[in-house]
Amino acid sequence: MLKVKGLKVSAGEKDILKGIDLEIKSGEVHCIMGPNGAGKSTLVNSLMGHPSYDISSGEVNLNGINLLELEPFERSLEGVFLAFQYPREISGVTLFNFLLAAYNEHMCHKDKDFRRMKAFKFRKFIKPFLIELKVPEDFLQRYLNHGFSGGEKKKIEILQLKLFNPKIALLDETDSGLDVDALKVVSQGINDFKSKENAILIVTHYQRILDYVKPDFVHVIKDGKIVKSGDYKFAQELEQKGFEWITE
Ligand SMILES: Nc1ncnc2c1ncn2[C@@H]1O[C@H](COP(=O)(O)OP(=O)(O)O)[C@@H](O)[C@H]1O
Ligand SMILES: [Mg+2]
Repeated sequence: MLKVKGLKVSAGEKDILKGIDLEIKSGEVHCIMGPNGAGKSTLVNSLMGHPSYDISSGEVNLNGINLLELEPFERSLEGVFLAFQYPREISGVTLFNFLLAAYNEHMCHKDKDFRRMKAFKFRKFIKPFLIELKVPEDFLQRYLNHGFSGGEKKKIEILQLKLFNPKIALLDETDSGLDVDALKVVSQGINDFKSKENAILIVTHYQRILDYVKPDFVHVIKDGKIVKSGDYKFAQELEQKGFEWITE
């Protein structure tokens, strides 16, 4: 599925990632943990093609496709999805129009014979998704993320995850700022999405989401490098001991 080899990334003058190797297979859930400023967001943003980051060397392949040659929207169409740590507010674009356009683009890319869904049909189609994620229907007419609370924004990211059904989901601190009920709803959404055909990379500070979404592998990133990897038990150990004790 996703293969990252020797990835080095900088932003401005700063070298952030100093050689990341990571392989994520279909059906797997990986988790990246690590202290503030370690380079976790830089990793997932670079995988998505964020323009602030320069890739100085390394390879990123998704099922044999070289992602580094693609624009962010092309990566999205190929099945890469990023749930942002800080989802942006976009004035002038309603949540409904955004979801409708993006959904149709993804579906047309997957299936050349797909006929674009019309607004009235899409409205019916997404209703069960809204109910499941406890997103009020009137949010659809609001501008994207405009005035949404932190937790509401995170739910909207999961709504997109479920609608676009990517191959690899990169979830950057999707659990932060959620109360217990919202965490359960979001985790349920992630678990519903999870299948043998896709893979998930969860970036988090806290072990608590891993009680709901069990990772197969846990990696600690420090100062731009993966310094230690383990299984689910390793995440629990990290919760107790923190990151200080881990060295290369
Ligand atoms: N666009 C950028 N320009 C300059 N420095 C950046 C940029 N993005 C991130 N950094 C720096 O790179 C380091 C890693 O940031 P980040 O990947 O956001 O860390 P994390 O998500 O692990 O907390 C930090 O020191 C941060 O200030
Ligand atoms: Mg971050």
